Amino acid sequence: TDQYAVIGNPIGHTKSPLIHGLFAQETRQDISYTAIEGPTGPAGAFAASVRAFFEGGGKGINVTAPFKLEAFAMSDECSDRAQLAGAVNALKFDGGRIFADNFDGIGLVRDIEANLNLPMAGKRVLMLGAGGAARGALLPFLEARPAELVIANRDVDKARTLAAQVAGRGSLLACGYAELARMGRFDLVVNATSASLTGDLPPVPPSVFSPKGAAYELAYGKRLTPFLRLAKNAGVHGMADGVGMLVEQAAEAFAWWRGVRPETGSVIDRLAVPFD
Ligand code: ATR
Repeated sequence: TDQYAVIGNPIGHTKSPLIHGLFAQETRQDISYTAIEGPTGPAGAFAASVRAFFEGGGKGINVTAPFKLEAFAMSDECSDRAQLAGAVNALKFDGGRIFADNFDGIGLVRDIEANLNLPMAGKRVLMLGAGGAARGALLPFLEARPAELVIANRDVDKARTLAAQVAGRGSLLACGYAELARMGRFDLVVNATSASLTGDLPPVPPSVFSPKGAAYELAYGKRLTPFLRLAKNAGVHGMADGVGMLVEQAAEAFAWWRGVRPETGSVIDRLAVPFD
């Protein structure tokens, strides 16, 4: 039995052991997957727990808040998208080396394109927020070839820095919220801010929504957040929260570790929480 785990703090509400347990059953992989409460202690304590897990035979570990940056820092090798994000959510131990990747963005793109049936190619896409969550999604979004990708943030400089970092890999326009009022409608609006965690609404004008388009809330299990309510009132029919992204990023990690891709639809259905 190969050992895997998720590490975070707090970790009590994690769905990862359930998700990976279902994947393992479905693909007949002999693995165990547990939850580890990461140390809040001195700098270096997180890296020490991960090393102890690997030295005890662990093959791979998912990393969640607040350790994604430390996980990036302790890795020996990582993907381009992880490098840009400066944060990782999965580690693999192989031949004494620690490999790292960030599957959040690709999980989000898969959920949008494959599950919500909204191919991003040629579409106008708006991302709200320029923190860790938005950074992780940037390269996978650009690779999906939207006609236009706009990133809006309260702190406009943060959005501009990101746009400069991806220059040459696709066009990304950075702006503040006020400018959105004259940018017309978007086919897809993604809330990658952390506002919903505190019940807040990013100051996004309702004119960005298109009734035929979609609104995606990265937070999961919060029901109708202020952002989704705004979208609904603007006539948007296609609404989603982050449950699909959660399951899809898990499937990416599972495939990376085990070499076999699990089916995600039934797992998403099982975890989905109705909006109202
Ligand atoms: P995460 O890892 O969840 O992305 P983060 O890196 O702390 O968290 O980034 C939080 C993001 O949410 C930032 O883009 C932040 O905007 P600023 O950079 O301008 O601070 C955004 N955010 C948080 N609360 C918000 C609110 N009430 N309205 C708009 N944006 C908000």
